[in-house]
Amino acid sequence: MEIKLTENQNPRHPPEDDSKLGFGNVFSNHMLIMEYDKDKGGWDPAEIKPYGQLGLEPAAACLHYGQIVWEGMKCYRAKDGLRLFRPKENFQRLNRSAERMCMPSVDVEYMVGALKEFLKIEKEWVPKLKGTSLYIRPCMVAHETFLGLHKADKYLLFIILSPSGPYFKEGFNPIKIMVEDKYVRAAMGGTGEAKTAGNYAASLKSAVEAKKKGFSQTLWLDSIEMKYVEEVGAMNIAFVIDNEVVTPELDGTILHGITRKSVLEICKKLGIKASERRISIEEVIERIENKSLTEAFGMGTAAIIAPVGSISYRDQEHIINEFKVGLIAKQIYDELIGIQYGEKEDIFNWIEMV
Ligand code: PLP
Ligand code: COI
Repeated sequence: MEIKLTENQNPRHPPEDDSKLGFGNVFSNHMLIMEYDKDKGGWDPAEIKPYGQLGLEPAAACLHYGQIVWEGMKCYRAKDGLRLFRPKENFQRLNRSAERMCMPSVDVEYMVGALKEFLKIEKEWVPKLKGTSLYIRPCMVAHETFLGLHKADKYLLFIILSPSGPYFKEGFNPIKIMVEDKYVRAAMGGTGEAKTAGNYAASLKSAVEAKKKGFSQTLWLDSIEMKYVEEVGAMNIAFVIDNEVVTPELDGTILHGITRKSVLEICKKLGIKASERRISIEEVIERIENKSLTEAFGMGTAAIIAPVGSISYRDQEHIINEFKVGLIAKQIYDELIGIQYGEKEDIFNWIEMV
C-alpha cells in the first residue's frame, strides 16, 4: 500500500530510557490523517504528515456537539518484529462507535494496512523494554463548521502514536478502587457502549473525587438501580469467585473491551472457568468478606491486567487477597503478555505482524 508521506522537517528522537516512560505523554514525529466529505463520495486516501495542529475552526462540530470516537491499541516490539494485537477488532469497534454517533464507517482492512505502513515509518518509536509498547490512538472527529444541531458531513480521522509504559504508577501491583454511588457513567439507551469522548468527560468528576481520596479509579454501577457492577474508568472488571472468573455481562452500557474478550478466551485455553453475568455490588462486598471472592482485576489495552487490592464502598474499604496479586490474574497476565510479546504461541491468531 502506497501512502503519501510528508516528512517532519524537525524530527525528534524517541525517549532514550524506556524505563521512565509514562502513559500517553510523548508523541512520535508523524500522524496519519484522512478526510471524509459526504459530498465528495466519502474518505480520501490516508496521508502521513508531521505530528501537529489539526487546524480545526472554532465552529467545528466536534467542539460543540461531541461527534468524536476513538480507539486504543498497542504495537509491541518482539524478537520476530513489531506485533499488533487484534487491530481489526479495534477498527470494527470504531465503526460500531461511529454508527452510534451518526459518523461514517471506515474500511477495516484498509485501516489496518495503512496503520502498518505508518508503523513502518515510525518503527523507532516502538520502545524496546518489555512491559512498554507503542500506544496507538485512532480518533475521528466532525470538523464541518456549523452551529445548528445536526450530524456533520465532514470528518477527520487521525492516528497518533505514543511510546508508553505502565498506565498505573503501581505497575502490575494491586490498585485501590472506589465504588461510585452518586454519579453514573452511562445509561441504558445512551452511548456507554461507544468509545466516544463524552463518556469519558462524564466520568471525570468521579475520577477527580476518587483521586482526591487516594483511589486509582472509579468502579461504576448501573444507572437504574445503582446496584450492578459495570466497569472501571478505563477498563473492564472481573472477579474470581470460587475459582471462577466472573465479569459483568455486556448490557448495552459497558464498553465491549477487547482485553476482556481476550481474557475470556484465555480462560478457556487455560481451563479456568469463566462466566459473564450480572453481579451486584452487595454480592461483591459480601463475597470479599466471606472470602469466596479471592481476586479482582481490571482488563484494558492501556491497563493490561490490573489487579485490584481493595474496593471501597460507602466509605468502607474491603481488602481482597490481603492486597496481593492473585494467582489467576497472574496466570492470565502472563498468557496475555506472552502472546503480545511473542513469547507464547499465538494459538488464537490475534497477532498481526507490521
Ligand atoms: N472500558 C473503558 C471505559 C475503557 O476506556 C477501556 C479501554 O479501552 C476498556 C473498558 C477496555 O477496553 P479494551 O480492552 O478494548 O482496551
Ligand atoms: C485504552 O485502554 O485504550 C483506554 O481507552 C483507556 C484510556 C482512558 C487511556
